[in-house]
Amino acid sequence: MRKKIVAGNWKMNNDKNETKILIADLKESLKGVELENTRVIIAPAFVFLQRTAKKIKNSKLEVAAQNMHQEESGAYTGEVSAKMLKSVGVNTVILGHSERREYFGETDTLLTKKVNRALQHKLEVIFCFGEKLEDRKSGNHFEVVKAQLKNALFHLNSEDWQHIILAYEPVWAIGTGETASPEQAQEMHAFVRELVAERYISDVSEEVSILYGGSVKPANAKEIFSKEDVDGGLIGGAALHADDFLAIINAI
Ligand code: PGA
Repeated sequence: MRKKIVAGNWKMNNDKNETKILIADLKESLKGVELENTRVIIAPAFVFLQRTAKKIKNSKLEVAAQNMHQEESGAYTGEVSAKMLKSVGVNTVILGHSERREYFGETDTLLTKKVNRALQHKLEVIFCFGEKLEDRKSGNHFEVVKAQLKNALFHLNSEDWQHIILAYEPVWAIGTGETASPEQAQEMHAFVRELVAERYISDVSEEVSILYGGSVKPANAKEIFSKEDVDGGLIGGAALHADDFLAIINAI
C-alpha cells in the first residue's frame, strides 16, 4: 500500500529559535497521534538540518532538505552536496520546486543531474513539478507536466522509483491562496499515475506517492486528500504554524 505523506516546506523562514519552537511543538503534539501509514516530513533551511535531524530522533517527524547541488564536490561556493546532507542525517531532499526553477533557473536538464546525484547517495527525492497559469489557460498543462516528468525522471529504472515521491504543484496555486480544486488535483494526479504506468510496470505507478501542493490549508486539506490519487500534500505557508500543520496531518 502506498504511503500517505504530509511534508512541510519551510522555505526561507524561521530563525534558530523559531525552528526550535516549531519542532518542539510538532513533536509534542504528534506524541499521542496514531499515524497510520502516514509519514510527516519537515524541511527547514540548510543551516538547521543537522540540529533538526538530532532533535527528531525517536519522534514521528522526518527531515528533508529543500535543495542540493548536482555535483559531487568542488569549487561551488555557497552550495551544499548530497554527501553533506547524508552526513548530517538527512535522507530526503526536495528537488525541482517551482521557486528553484523560476528564481534560480533550474531546468529539466539540471534537475536530471540533481536527481541522479541524490539517488547515487541514497537520498529519497520529493520531485516537484507543475504548470504555470498561462499553461493552464492555454490548455497545455498536461503536456507541460508530461515533459517535466519525462525529462527529469523517466530515465530512471523501476528500483530507483522506490526513492521517488512526486509533488504536483501548479505554480498558480503556490503562495497565492488559490488552490487547485480537488477535481483539478485528482485529474492531474490520475494523469501522472497513468504516465508512470505506461512507462514502467504497474507496481511503480501504484506504489509512488503523489502529493499535491499549492495553498493547502486546514480548511481545504480534507477535501483534497479525499481524492483517490492524492496521497498527501507538500505544504508551504501553513507548515509554519504548528496548529495548521497538525490540522492538515489530521485531515489525512
Ligand atoms: P504554499 O506553498 O502552501 O504556501 O502555497 C506550497 C509549496 O511551495 O510547496
